[in-house]
Amino acid sequence: MKKIILLIALLLATGLYSQKFDGLALTPPMGWNSWNKFGCDVNEQLIRETADAMVSSGMKAAGYQYIVIDDCWHGERDKLGFIQPHPERFPSGMKALADYIHSKGLKFGIYSDAGWKTCGGKPGSRGHEYQDAMKYAEWGVDYLKYDWCHTEGLNAEGAYLTMRDALFAAGRPIVFSLCEWGNNKPWEWGKKIGHLWRTTGDITACFDCVVDHGTWKSLGVTYILDLQKGLRVHAGPDHWNDPDMMEVGNGMAVNEDRAHFSMWCMLAAPLMAGNDLSNMTKETIEILTNQEAIAINQDSLGVQGFIYSAKDSLEIWFKPLSKGEWAVCFLNRSPEMKEIIFEWNKHPINDEFSKCAINFEKTSCKIRDVWMKKEIGSTKKASRFQVGSHDVKMLRLKPGK
Ligand code: GLA
Repeated sequence: MKKIILLIALLLATGLYSQKFDGLALTPPMGWNSWNKFGCDVNEQLIRETADAMVSSGMKAAGYQYIVIDDCWHGERDKLGFIQPHPERFPSGMKALADYIHSKGLKFGIYSDAGWKTCGGKPGSRGHEYQDAMKYAEWGVDYLKYDWCHTEGLNAEGAYLTMRDALFAAGRPIVFSLCEWGNNKPWEWGKKIGHLWRTTGDITACFDCVVDHGTWKSLGVTYILDLQKGLRVHAGPDHWNDPDMMEVGNGMAVNEDRAHFSMWCMLAAPLMAGNDLSNMTKETIEILTNQEAIAINQDSLGVQGFIYSAKDSLEIWFKPLSKGEWAVCFLNRSPEMKEIIFEWNKHPINDEFSKCAINFEKTSCKIRDVWMKKEIGSTKKASRFQVGSHDVKMLRLKPGK
């Protein structure tokens, strides 16, 4: 009997000492990640310049915080098994880089993999989880993206739990980003482990196509969007669905970038820019720093938007916001421009998941156009507008006259 009580006490105690760091991502994380634009070509100068550009471009002021180095920063493990940064690419070391990023008022993120190797063939964390977590804490890391390559035979939930516990034991609060591509339904078990989890394979800078790489495929914006179906019930403050880092500024047309960004805002997705922040066009900056779109993404209610209707390549998405407000996004996926007449009175909205509802016959709202940045009337009358091909009309509705 004594033994059993002891065992239960022990289990309870370990439970207390191994958990995720709560409250680090009450709204979707915002930042930049090196992968989409730079792949394995990362070095400390790029990272410093990116931190500088995040401030000078106005992105920091708009809410972006994390500077995350993705794959290939690694050197070898030392004799004791501790990971070291690549000596030529990161000659000043990770602590100095973290200090620089912190001195700009930003936060520092890094990448590893649950398997024996990263996707880029660098040392993975398997068998070194506690050592790696100790190093990250020592360096001043604030965010860890943890990938899923070379994990043959591993149990996903178990592997991510191990790193969660290692991070917690190391003692430095670190946002934990699960990059498992949705293979093992991380939305079903990720909430207690991490702050965000990838829901799909990798994104590619194309609005409406798939790129075949032989053994795997990367997905354009609309393909990723379609894979989010049914997942919103799993997301909320501190545990977000992650439809991958953004491709804004990486070669799509401006309207496509705007649509991509708007949809990531509607999805309450993490907003991780993936472009070259030191070389942005005016349009790219305008998209990435649109405060009204970002406010929809960062709304404190933390409810992921939902598709209300889809017909002839026109989708209408709604997202409940705090204080009874709503975001609405008309997404035109077709190659032609569309004329819309939307009679609000005929469309009562009732979101069972969030328990938010609005009936425009009873409650009229002021309408604000998020991209035109101006009021465009009220829901008392039908709205009439055009939506260009691969573009959006994104609106914010506020109850009142
Ligand atoms: C995987 C991830 C990407 C990126 C690369 C790095 O493909 O899904 O986001 O981290 O690995 O090799």
